[in-house]
Amino acid sequence: MPIDVAAEVIANRQLSSDYNVLALAAPAIAAASAPGQFVMIKANTGSNDPLLRRPFSVFEILRAVDGTATGLSILSKRIGASTQLLYDARPGQPVACLGPLGRPFTIVEPPTEAWMIAGGVGLAPFATLAESLRARGVRSTLFYGARRAAELFHLDFFRALDVELVLTTEDGSAGETGRVVAPLDRQLASRSARAPLMIYACGPERMLAAASRIAARHGRPCQVSVERIMGCGLGGCYSCVVPMRGDDGQSHHVRSCLAGPVLAADRIVWD
Ligand SMILES: Cc1cc2nc3c(=O)[nH]c(=O)nc-3n(C[C@H](O)[C@H](O)[C@H](O)COP(=O)(O)OP(=O)(O)OC[C@H]3O[C@@H](n4cnc5c(N)ncnc54)[C@H](O)[C@@H]3O)c2cc1C
Ligand code: FES
Repeated sequence: MPIDVAAEVIANRQLSSDYNVLALAAPAIAAASAPGQFVMIKANTGSNDPLLRRPFSVFEILRAVDGTATGLSILSKRIGASTQLLYDARPGQPVACLGPLGRPFTIVEPPTEAWMIAGGVGLAPFATLAESLRARGVRSTLFYGARRAAELFHLDFFRALDVELVLTTEDGSAGETGRVVAPLDRQLASRSARAPLMIYACGPERMLAAASRIAARHGRPCQVSVERIMGCGLGGCYSCVVPMRGDDGQSHHVRSCLAGPVLAADRIVWD
């Protein structure tokens, strides 16, 4: 059962003019969260605009020295009214937080390797996934693309977990110039088909579709975390549907807040 709390803001770290990491005192939600799950958040109290909560991946589980979960953080990109409020949030302020919600990533075991593909704020679900992969001894690589070097965040966190980093920027200010799916395609082409691999992707839908096609072309399984507009996060409003192919080959719509946000890439009807 999802838990609904008025979580106090512990800290708000503004990473750039658009991105911030908001730490929330929601220990019960944090303790129950699995990598890939999300929370529904509303920064303003009462019924004033924006009325509806917004979905955010659980970015980090915050822990006391003894390992007990004390809260969670979200990595937010400012694009509208709610993310503006989250960008401006002050320590001590209450934030409505409901979760954990949705279906998490299926986590592989060695000798399977994990390749995480992140576009922009699509980095968010991979911090907790990288920790879980490391705990299982799975070799991991993060392919991470952003518009510019200043928007590549949290790199030292992944390096500390021995995650290999493959970076791309659209303006060439760090890593390879261009889209993150280009090195993915190249590295898949040069890898032995016998070496088991799972691809995890999160980011803009066009990037997910490209990663999905590339994974399929190389015969690799791929789990994607889709970001549809979500009105409730609980299966009630049908704002979040994604067309998927069933076992019968027919297309049908699933609610990504319940069946996802993590879905099998080869089942999604991308266009
Ligand atoms: C499962 C899930 C996890 C998410 N995790 C994160 C996260 O970790 N960090 C983060 O910054 N964002 C995340 N998002 C996206 C986030 O929910 C939206 O950015 C947020 O709802 C925008 O709210 P707003 O009020 O600021 O903007 P709004 O005013 O609601 O929207 C501004 C513009 O963005 C468009 N938009 C809104 N939501 C989406 C969306 N999901 N996809 C594409 N376009 C959209 C709107 O149509 C509008 O044009 C996630 C979405 C989902 C479904
Ligand atoms: S967000 Fe309401 S049904 Fe999925």
